[in-house]
Amino acid sequence: MSLNADSKTFDLSGKSVLITGASSGLGHHFAGVLADAGATVILGARRVDKIEQRVSEIKARGGRAFGLALDVNNAENVVDFLEQAEALCGRLDVLINNAGVEAGAKTFMMIDEEDWDTVFNTNLKSIWRLSKLFTERIAKNKHPASIVNIASITAFRTIKGQFPYAVSKAALIKATEIMALEGAKYGVRVNALAPGYFLTDVSRVLLESEMSEEFRKGIPMRRYGEFSDLDGPLLLLASDASAYMTGSTIVVDGGHICAEL
Ligand SMILES: NC(=O)c1ccc[n+]([C@@H]2O[C@H](COP(=O)([O-])OP(=O)(O)OC[C@H]3O[C@@H](n4cnc5c(N)ncnc54)[C@H](OP(=O)(O)O)[C@@H]3O)[C@@H](O)[C@H]2O)c1
Repeated sequence: MSLNADSKTFDLSGKSVLITGASSGLGHHFAGVLADAGATVILGARRVDKIEQRVSEIKARGGRAFGLALDVNNAENVVDFLEQAEALCGRLDVLINNAGVEAGAKTFMMIDEEDWDTVFNTNLKSIWRLSKLFTERIAKNKHPASIVNIASITAFRTIKGQFPYAVSKAALIKATEIMALEGAKYGVRVNALAPGYFLTDVSRVLLESEMSEEFRKGIPMRRYGEFSDLDGPLLLLASDASAYMTGSTIVVDGGHICAEL
């Protein structure tokens, strides 16, 4: 059987990719993966020193990268981010909505107004804001584009102590589907990637706790994810390899959502 795939299938040469929350964790890793696939990457986050460091690393290995200050919760700053990125790259092709926060290990009885607002603004409202502004530009330029929303398996699993993070990620999957439906006429595909558990600042509280070992045993593949486990699915959704995919969510979790609770 021929898969009709060659080294160009996931190629991003000539494409500009915006990555929010690229100063640490998954976004920091994604920037390198996308640049290695040929993209010009534009990294955004609040910690500009970390962004600049990552940009230097990518350039040192021959990639094209720019770093811009970005607070996804600041509407004016988001407009500036997109304008500056467009000025640097000419045209924008892919948006990776990766910036995200959690409120700590809290139940719905423990969170306060500020927890709710911070998590929902960062994990949901900002994605609408960025996607809308991005799509306005695509509609004007009339070229195909892709949005990848970083969701989470907490959208599918029902466990205690991840409120409102899990609720925001479940809503993000619905937002992905509706944006796919409404974005198709502008040539914008919208998909989501739902990782399981990967050790980063967002997951550290759980993965480095005394419950970690027990939790790990609940994953059918008996291990947490390595960043590289996300490379293939990310490149699929960002590139033309997924030209007929929109509204989909790809789960990358070692089988975790299939496991008994
Ligand atoms: N780690 C996991 O197991 C896991 C699993 C499923 C989904 N995810 C998702 O993956 C994404 C990345 O998280 P991570 O695990 O890599 O954690 P992380 O290392 O804490 O990364 C979060 C990123 O979001 C950025 N960010 C937060 N608030 C922001 C704001 N207002 N404006 C701009 N950037 C902001 C942070 O940058 P600054 O602080 O510099 O702004 C940081 O770069 C999140 O959406 C998370 O929900 C993670």
